Amino acid sequence: MKILVTGGAGFIGSNFVRYMLARYPDVNVVNFDALTYAGNLENLQDLETDPRHVFVRGNIAAMEDVESLFRSHAFDAVVNFAAESHVDRSLHMGADVFIQTNVAGVQMLMDAVRMNGVGRFMQVSTDEVYGSLGEQGRFSESSPIQPNNPYAATKAAADLMVRAACRSHGLDAVITRCSNNFGPYQFPEKLIPLMIANAMEDKPLPVYGDGQHVRDWIFVTDHCAAIDCVLRNGKTGMIYNVGGDHDIPNLDVVRGILRCLGKPETLIRYVEDRPGHDRRYAIDASRIKRELGWKPVYDFEPALSRTVEWYVANRKWWERIRTGVYREYYEQLYRGRLESGEDGDAS
Ligand code: NAD
Ligand code: TYD
Repeated sequence: MKILVTGGAGFIGSNFVRYMLARYPDVNVVNFDALTYAGNLENLQDLETDPRHVFVRGNIAAMEDVESLFRSHAFDAVVNFAAESHVDRSLHMGADVFIQTNVAGVQMLMDAVRMNGVGRFMQVSTDEVYGSLGEQGRFSESSPIQPNNPYAATKAAADLMVRAACRSHGLDAVITRCSNNFGPYQFPEKLIPLMIANAMEDKPLPVYGDGQHVRDWIFVTDHCAAIDCVLRNGKTGMIYNVGGDHDIPNLDVVRGILRCLGKPETLIRYVEDRPGHDRRYAIDASRIKRELGWKPVYDFEPALSRTVEWYVANRKWWERIRTGVYREYYEQLYRGRLESGEDGDAS
């Protein structure tokens, strides 16, 4: 089986490539990635000598790159991770590149899949397309699509284009909508790795608003297993929610990280909230559990400790990232916020 994995130099994509190659001796992966600020070939260093893994640099939204890719390889399936994935960037740096990659790029891939007779197209989507929950309830696959930030809106738009391609062209496509992932190789702009790295350097931990926003955390390997399961056994045209059954406030996550590292809660700073910040995400993943037999197997606390240990052992990996372009972005995003923030409660 030859799989095209797009965005495989990013966080979840690189974990997925490693997962598939370790699990299936008969799987070959072509990893197509533009190497944006979030793509990092160091994430794939241990696979460099594996003949079943071929890396191709290219942009899913550039027709010449995509055409040349499909001319050079015959794929059995395509799994699309490639995306601009950070909400704060979509708010502060403009939505253009999000529209290009997350919407136009997905359409470009689906057209290539159809024209080249590829078996199955899989779109890795997100629970953020559903918007925010109130105090009660969970997102099911039939919850309304109500994105509240540009990132989520582009992912929702792509989901609708996938639906349209299924209905109008008979494309064999499936969609997963997963909750917040954590684990090794996550870019240190996202909550968990950012807090780990800052705490390790005794820098302030910027918690947005009151820190009571709830996310449903899933260890990345559980997400990879769900994608594998849907890729193989999912029903054409179907959407599958994926979640970790562990929805907790951000402040609890941050405190858990500080506990793992033996660092004080005085490092916490409450900073200005993210505009349009979704209050609560919680996933009802009963469809994938019932119909495909998947369930998350990693408990949150041990998986979080394991993740913290990985960032401690791989300090050079994130230190290299936290220089240059990323640094400039970081400064711009948090300028004025940290200075005016309040001390965290040490109790
Ligand atoms: P990431 O930002 O770590 O990685 C994205 C990868 O895509 C990078 O390697 C980047 O170089 C590549 N890329 C970006 N634009 C590209 C383009 N135009 N052409 C080719 N490659 C391009 O993201 P991630 O956290 O690994 O997320 C992967 C996918 O999973 C995304 O589609 C995201 O929406 C989805 N998702 C993420 C989460 C999460 O918690 N991280 C949860 C649910 C769904
Ligand atoms: P993030 O990792 O950006 O994922 P998403 O926005 O896709 O859920 O953020 C997770 C939560 O953590 C979200 O509620 C925003 C919050 N957050 C902070 O409080 N401080 C930060 O510095 C970051 C990056 C996120």
